[in-house]
Amino acid sequence: MIKVIGIGGSPRKGGNSDILLDETLKGARKHGASCEKIILNDLDFRPCQECGGCDETGVCVVKDDMQSVYKKIEEADRIIIATPIFFGSLSAQIKMMIDRFQSYWIRRYILKIAVSAKKRRKGIFLCVSGSDKKEFFENAKKIIRIFFITLNIEYFGDVFCGGIDEKAAIKKNKKTLAKAFKLGEALVKN
Ligand SMILES: Cc1cc2nc3c(=O)[nH]c(=O)nc-3n(C[C@H](O)[C@H](O)[C@H](O)COP(=O)(O)O)c2cc1C
Repeated sequence: MIKVIGIGGSPRKGGNSDILLDETLKGARKHGASCEKIILNDLDFRPCQECGGCDETGVCVVKDDMQSVYKKIEEADRIIIATPIFFGSLSAQIKMMIDRFQSYWIRRYILKIAVSAKKRRKGIFLCVSGSDKKEFFENAKKIIRIFFITLNIEYFGDVFCGGIDEKAAIKKNKKTLAKAFKLGEALVKN
């Protein structure tokens, strides 16, 4: 069975990116995938401490909730990242998680060992913002691409939705929700 992990980067539960993530997971679930959602804001973890503790092994030595995230992402066949745009970029929660994957960067590029036993992993990026500035989405996308490459995840697709600010305003945007659902379906069918 295909394992999907959805990672929510907004502090606002039931907010726009959270709703988009739920729609994508619904699409994946429809085709029998086993889906799990993690809300980073609920976890207790620190940013990368640049301690060098992973330099020799590719294993992060900081013992906090990131340890379970590493395991879940390693075991996942499909990864979905959802975030609002904050100050023209990803939320701090997502960036903090990504930086903690420095240990995997070490594995891939220095130690040259596999970052996951899983083959042909694919990922989706979901992003929302108050304004509708293409450069903000492109900015965030660049970082997600680097993250996916490091973890051997093919960038499968994305849904960007600008012009939404109020909590759950995205519910009125039926086309975007349908696009997210379809992308979730395609993610596990392909
Ligand atoms: C701290 C903060 C920073 C923000 N920065 C931006 C920004 O740079 N550009 C923008 O268009 N919207 C910005 N917004 C608006 C959010 O992107 C927007 O409200 C989005 O719909 C929130 O999604 P969520 O409900 O998933 O958290 C910001 C909101 C917050 C709280």
